[in-house]
Amino acid sequence: MKAPARARRAAPRPRVALKLPSFAKINLGLEVLGRRRDGYHELRTLFQTITLRDDVWLSPRESGITVSSGRADVPDDATNLAARAALELARHAGVRKGVHIEISKRIPVAAGLGGGSSNAAAVLLGLDRLWRLGLGPTGLYEPARRIGADVPFFLLGGTALGVSRGDEVYPLRRQIRAHVVVATPARPVSTAAVFRRLSRRLTPREIGSTIFRFVSRDLEGEACFSLLSNDLESAALEEAPDLARALRRIRSLLVREGAALALLSGSGSSFFGLFTNARQAVRAREALTNAAIPAVHARTVTHEQYRRIWSRALGR
Ligand code: C5P
Repeated sequence: MKAPARARRAAPRPRVALKLPSFAKINLGLEVLGRRRDGYHELRTLFQTITLRDDVWLSPRESGITVSSGRADVPDDATNLAARAALELARHAGVRKGVHIEISKRIPVAAGLGGGSSNAAAVLLGLDRLWRLGLGPTGLYEPARRIGADVPFFLLGGTALGVSRGDEVYPLRRQIRAHVVVATPARPVSTAAVFRRLSRRLTPREIGSTIFRFVSRDLEGEACFSLLSNDLESAALEEAPDLARALRRIRSLLVREGAALALLSGSGSSFFGLFTNARQAVRAREALTNAAIPAVHARTVTHEQYRRIWSRALGR
């Protein structure tokens, strides 16, 4: 009689990946006050998260940090902000674990929509959960700002004032609820190059007043979007002169369809229109698509909605 086969060791169960939302942002207004000693610029900006989003999947591994997105325009090495976030957090918390990060991209790359920074913040929030660190947005703030100036904002989301390098963020009491049409001409723009260009002709200012005026009027119940502008626009158009014509066309189309605000987001190349009326937003997106300009229709995501979506994603 054959000896009974020894019970085989159970194969390791596949570790379940954590699926995370990674929202895009627009800048409803952006003021550059001057150059700082650290080479960055002193900003006043109004950040706003929108429903356009990537999905980020985290799969725990014993060691090693890897990232993939299947896209040629997104690095799959340590220069990817999502991989840097994992590395930065492991160092910060003294963790010796690995992770594989999979990014399913919908947010256009190098388009002023904060996609890379948002992916990085998603990795911080997700790994905080997977590695049971219990840091939360407050404890993640330091590693977030070491990764990039826009990363801390994505720990909070919603409508928020960003000051300093844009990395000091304060959610506003009145959160904006609106439709957003984002048009992205197929032309990536380097944020660093736009800031360099602006620096050459920047006259340092003590204060920026448009965002202050917008916020104080908004608190009185009057949303004066016409006060807002983006100081990076002229430098972005100098950096990418071929964009100027496209942006003129996009702006006139958005305004014609009734946009309350039509602005370049961050350093571009995305241009967005803010609409209080859904039908106008639908028409604006259609008109852009008919003009062969890639465009999406999104909504703003308030701070409360952002918190709720994140709580669900983290299983809280
Ligand atoms: O912080 P982050 O790497 O996302 O910023 C990209 C580049 O944009 C920086 O390297 C810097 O050149 C420029 N920048 C700046 N001032 C800011 C934010 C960004 O000069 N407040």
